[in-house]
Amino acid sequence: MKTVAATLLAAASLARAQVATVSEPSISEIRQAAATTLPESPSSDVKGVAFNRFYQVWLENTDYEDVAADPNMQWLASQGILLTNYYAVTHPSEPNYCAAAGGDTFGMDNDNFNQIPANVSTVADLLDTKSISWGEYQEHMPFPGFQGFNYSNQETFDNDYVRKHNPLVLYDSVVQNETRARQIKNFTDFENDLSDKKLPQWAFITPNMTNDVHDTNITFGGKWERSWMSSLLTNDYFMNDSLILLTFDEDDTYNKTNRVYSILVGGAIPDNLKGTTDDTFYTHYSSIASVSANWGLPSLGRRSQWDCGANIFEIVANKTGYVNFDVEITNLRLNETYPGPESAGELSKFSPTWPVPLTDAKCSAGNGILDIVKKTYAGQAATYNYSSPYPWDTKADYNTKVTVTRKNASNSTNTTTSSSSASSPATGGAAAAITAPGFTVMTGALVAMFAYLL
Ligand SMILES: *[C@@H]1O[C@H](CO)[C@@H](O)[C@H](O)[C@H]1NC(C)=O
Ligand SMILES: *[C@@H]1O[C@H](CO)[C@@H](O)[C@H](O)[C@H]1NC(C)=O
Ligand SMILES: *[C@@H]1O[C@H](CO)[C@@H](O)[C@H](O)[C@H]1NC(C)=O
Ligand SMILES: *[C@@H]1O[C@H](CO)[C@@H](O)[C@H](O)[C@H]1NC(C)=O
Ligand SMILES: *[C@@H]1O[C@H](CO)[C@@H](O)[C@H](O)[C@H]1NC(C)=O
Ligand SMILES: *[C@@H]1O[C@H](CO)[C@@H](O)[C@H](O)[C@H]1NC(C)=O
Ligand SMILES: *[C@@H]1O[C@H](CO)[C@@H](O)[C@H](O)[C@H]1NC(C)=O
Ligand SMILES: *[C@@H]1O[C@H](CO)[C@@H](O)[C@H](O)[C@H]1NC(C)=O
Ligand SMILES: *[C@@H]1O[C@H](CO)[C@@H](O)[C@H](O)[C@H]1NC(C)=O
Ligand SMILES: *[C@@H]1O[C@H](CO)[C@@H](O)[C@H](O)[C@H]1NC(C)=O
Ligand SMILES: *[C@@H]1O[C@H](CO)[C@@H](O)[C@H](O)[C@H]1NC(C)=O
Ligand SMILES: *[C@@H]1O[C@H](CO)[C@@H](O)[C@H](O)[C@H]1NC(C)=O
Repeated sequence: MKTVAATLLAAASLARAQVATVSEPSISEIRQAAATTLPESPSSDVKGVAFNRFYQVWLENTDYEDVAADPNMQWLASQGILLTNYYAVTHPSEPNYCAAAGGDTFGMDNDNFNQIPANVSTVADLLDTKSISWGEYQEHMPFPGFQGFNYSNQETFDNDYVRKHNPLVLYDSVVQNETRARQIKNFTDFENDLSDKKLPQWAFITPNMTNDVHDTNITFGGKWERSWMSSLLTNDYFMNDSLILLTFDEDDTYNKTNRVYSILVGGAIPDNLKGTTDDTFYTHYSSIASVSANWGLPSLGRRSQWDCGANIFEIVANKTGYVNFDVEITNLRLNETYPGPESAGELSKFSPTWPVPLTDAKCSAGNGILDIVKKTYAGQAATYNYSSPYPWDTKADYNTKVTVTRKNASNSTNTTTSSSSASSPATGGAAAAITAPGFTVMTGALVAMFAYLL
């Protein structure tokens, strides 16, 4: 185990921030903390344009085709919209979970005890701008805000709860605040919040290592997910204007495209769209971008992170008028990541610099950048390039040959734009080139120039 100065804290100190010093607390420390740490269950009712609650449930490590062949997953798809062109962002597990909360992998290419410094914001900060309640449900986490590396089945010592599948716990900006930390809870708390009608409006849900396919297979995981979701899909409170994303952290074959079988279900899905498919290009970054667009929230602005330029679920994009991009995937590599401070040199290179996010883009959600991000990084140039619907980086020559087209291109007059005609991002002419209805093909570099204008 890595020696990391992370933190667990004894529960007695409910009033002060949890500052733990070990990644593996002793079982007696865990029991003591479990006896006194109370869950925090904020609730709110802020209306969004397409849904009022957003939940996501992630299973593990399965290739698209293998999931598509599973009858229980097929049944779940029949209850909502199957997203046939949705991608994880890298390998292995942890950077994908990390990306879902903070919009970046920070070069993470491992499942280590990684911690993201407190000056990095997450989706929790975006939601807090409008007091939209949020939380997490992590099966068999021993107590709210537990920060240990794992909590195994205490009889068999099989894998049960693991930190690497817990997005928000990786971020110091969340766990250094003890109230926020206690919004990270377990499935017992989920059942309580459900029956008390106190579910938050945003939640990330992680089944344990048995149920999420990690230590089993898709036959097992499909049965689990169908049975867990079935009762919820008939629960009027749960279904009330809710959107639930069922997806996978990554595919299982590293030299494939990392396409993952993903389904949208919930009360926010109109009946006429149940059992349909949506072939729009999405990634794990699309969930933050869609949440921001839905509730009129700002973006995190991490260029490397892509919540800024990510495609938005059609169910939201149709309401806000945002036009997504088609991404030509032939040259797209989402099975590796770019250099960053969380790299262990496995699938990317180590770079000590914490990437500086964008501070002045409009982003796909259309509401600019979070204030605290603008303040923290004022006057600093974004470390990498600007945003686009997929991650790319010219310095690392990562995904520089991918092209994108505005999705409605086929209906309009065909005006081809090349980088030479796009000129400077600041000119109105460039803006017109991308926003004009037309057949617009761009590479990431060109899309990036339009980050200000998106
Ligand atoms: C879940 O957390 C609660 C406290 O919120 C704790 O009482 C309970 O024992 C935990 N359940 C499991 C199964 O770990
Ligand atoms: C974490 O996992 C290790 C290795 O499987 C195990 O020995 C240890 O008991 C687990 N820790 C807890 C708190 O369950
Ligand atoms: C995972 O949770 C299920 C209940 O949902 C339980 O039956 C199973 O034993 C747990 N796995 C482990 C390794 O404890
Ligand atoms: C901690 O988080 C809570 C809940 O989000 C918030 O009300 C409080 O202001 C935060 N405290 C600090 C010191 O940031
Ligand atoms: C999953 O494992 C079970 C039990 O070992 C087996 O019966 C089933 O065929 C497996 N499913 C797949 C898709 O391999
Ligand atoms: C659905 O939510 C609205 C408020 O957003 C509430 O007025 C209504 O009673 C809820 N319906 C159900 C069935 O919970
Ligand atoms: C990523 O996929 C490409 C194309 O299949 C392959 O050449 C490359 O080796 C893969 N990278 C990893 C780390 O598997
Ligand atoms: C992926 O790797 C496997 C095993 O090395 C190989 O059999 C397969 O052809 C590769 N597929 C691609 C798309 O490169
Ligand atoms: C979005 O609008 C398109 C075009 O009208 C339509 O085909 C599609 O079904 C809509 N999707 C959703 C999720 O509303
Ligand atoms: C954010 O924190 C990291 C790690 O402590 C530090 O290297 C970086 O300089 C900080 N950035 C800013 C803008 O304060
Ligand atoms: C594109 O085609 C769809 C379906 O025919 C239509 O609803 C939409 O208005 C068209 N958009 C444009 C920009 O022509
Ligand atoms: C645009 O180009 C496509 C493919 O090149 C062609 O099929 C389509 O008919 C063109 N549309 C118009 C309006 O010219």
